Amino acid sequence: MMLNIVIDGQKVKAKEGSTILENARTLKIEIPTLCHHGELTPFGACRLCSVEVKTNGKWQIATSCNTPAEDGMEVITGSDRVKESRKAAAQLLYYKYPETQAVKEIAQKLGVKVSPGKAEGHDCILCGLCVRTCQEIVGVGALTFRDRGRDRDIDEPVIDFDPSACIGCGSCAYVCPTGYVKMEYDGDGERRIIWDKVFKMVPCKVCGRYFAPEDQLKYISKTTGVPFSELTTCVDCR
Ligand code: SF4
Ligand code: FES
Repeated sequence: MMLNIVIDGQKVKAKEGSTILENARTLKIEIPTLCHHGELTPFGACRLCSVEVKTNGKWQIATSCNTPAEDGMEVITGSDRVKESRKAAAQLLYYKYPETQAVKEIAQKLGVKVSPGKAEGHDCILCGLCVRTCQEIVGVGALTFRDRGRDRDIDEPVIDFDPSACIGCGSCAYVCPTGYVKMEYDGDGERRIIWDKVFKMVPCKVCGRYFAPEDQLKYISKTTGVPFSELTTCVDCR
């Protein structure tokens, strides 16, 4: 069933289960996000994606990334109240992580006064992107939030890393918006280090370049049934 909603005065046919953010994006309306990724379950942590929503005759601020469209819903994405709400969320993030460039940039964009110059810090802002990517896309679940409900308000990273589950694929480092998750190399690329775990890299059997952790290729072999020996050619040489 399609749902009829109105965003900034424009009528939209929304799919059941779709979010306000998804529908706003089909109209090319820009909404800032930090903890959102289209392929992952919404998390609602940063609150930068706020909009005003009218349900049952009442206007309220809601986070668009995790609020599902409802039939008859009206949404406003650019009111003063929305701007204030996003700015307040950005202010809070900047207050907590003033040294993190990704936070500084978005805070500045949303009207927060920030100190000049580049920030060099790489804090974990608890956006949950790495945890969700590892669970939902990689399917490994090596990262988990420690008692998420209680600890989300404290400033320290509360991510548990399970070295026995991690395959070293690096998806968490790729998705992390702040650079907190670091992926490093050692010995001409022979080893990859991530979350302090050292992975042995496999050289491409054609060009000899180290291209993937052995554990990752073993995992792919196990989950797909493709023999390990057929996985040892890098993308460029395939
Ligand atoms: S490590 Fe990076 S991706 Fe993971 S929760 Fe922290 S900021 Fe987000
Ligand atoms: S993008 Fe919606 S709460 Fe972070």
